[in-house]
Amino acid sequence: MSLAADARNLGAAEPLMRIDDLTIRFKLGQGLSGIMSDQPKHLDAVDRVSLDIRKGEVLGLVGESGSGKTTLGKAILRLYDAHQGSISFRGTDITRLRGSSLKALRRDLQMIFQDPASSLNPRQTVRTVLATPLLLHRICRPDEVDRKVDEILTQVGLSPTFRSRFPHELSGGQLQRVAIGRALTLSPDLIVADEAVSKLDVSVRSQILNLFRDIQDELGTTMVFITHDLHVARYLCHRIGVMYFGKLLELGPTNEIYENPRHPYTEALLGTLKPTVKDDPDVPVEEAGEAYNPTGETVGCRYYARCPYRVDQCKTAHPPLEDISDEHKVACYEWRRIGQR
Ligand SMILES: Nc1ncnc2c1ncn2[C@@H]1O[C@H](COP(=O)(O)OP(=O)(O)OP(=O)(O)O)[C@@H](O)[C@H]1O
Ligand SMILES: [Mg+2]
Repeated sequence: MSLAADARNLGAAEPLMRIDDLTIRFKLGQGLSGIMSDQPKHLDAVDRVSLDIRKGEVLGLVGESGSGKTTLGKAILRLYDAHQGSISFRGTDITRLRGSSLKALRRDLQMIFQDPASSLNPRQTVRTVLATPLLLHRICRPDEVDRKVDEILTQVGLSPTFRSRFPHELSGGQLQRVAIGRALTLSPDLIVADEAVSKLDVSVRSQILNLFRDIQDELGTTMVFITHDLHVARYLCHRIGVMYFGKLLELGPTNEIYENPRHPYTEALLGTLKPTVKDDPDVPVEEAGEAYNPTGETVGCRYYARCPYRVDQCKTAHPPLEDISDEHKVACYEWRRIGQR
């Protein structure tokens, strides 16, 4: 089945996770300007985002550096508290979960990071890395652990001989395989992979992407796959959400996002765009507008300063995420003019 058809079918099911109007707010240090203006400064790294994650899908989150992808990924795992909005998981509100309930939840939600070396203890062998969660959570009896460790190693494409190795004895790709194996030990319902292939060499990158794909095919694990690379997202994801300064600007099935992008920023990311206002030599620099200041009082569309399609309405308020078809949502007042190449 094609990814797009897959995404449509998945649409009928109850979402595994529902993110509703979520804001993650960071307080910023009181620098000189803070003291002078007497204003406590903050940054909404995720700004009123609503999004469903469907059981069994790979949802891509793309967007440039600082757009809030990691913050949203960590919020999904309840590593940050919501300033506003809610998150529900399998129909239960988990927004304010604490203590043992939160600990139990963490077992079902796992994260894989960009740099596996820093997420693995350098003094632990691969066996210890994989055996510890198995024993801690009583997934198997002590006498079954070695068999289970070997099973996981095989699943992530490593031979059982890797059991006795330490992280410094592994290549980047092998390290990432161990990190993926560790995430799989507890059979999580959802894995958030944050730039999990971006530090790897190109050849290794495609192997690890294939591993993610195999895991998805075999186990059907739901994944949120964070990447700044739309081509990586295209390979792996059923749906893609495009973020910019904390806002979700566009969401849809992967094919739709590629073949029928309706947000000027998505067009820009795909490289199919007219030049942005800032790139256009005919627009004087002062008219091109200041880039959005996420800690300031700027109103209007976050993309206003760079947008070649902007109109006066875009200055008034950031556009709401609007359904333009069953599966495709866009936050742009002018979406009808976009992508008409
Ligand atoms: N703990 C924090 N305290 C204050 N600001 C933060 C914190 N973590 C992230 N930010 C800010 O929130 C915004 C979003 O950051 P985030 O790391 O989520 O972006 P990203 O899309 O993952 O970027 P990248 O592609 O570089 O990883 C950035 O402006 C960042 O500086
Ligand atoms: Mg990040």
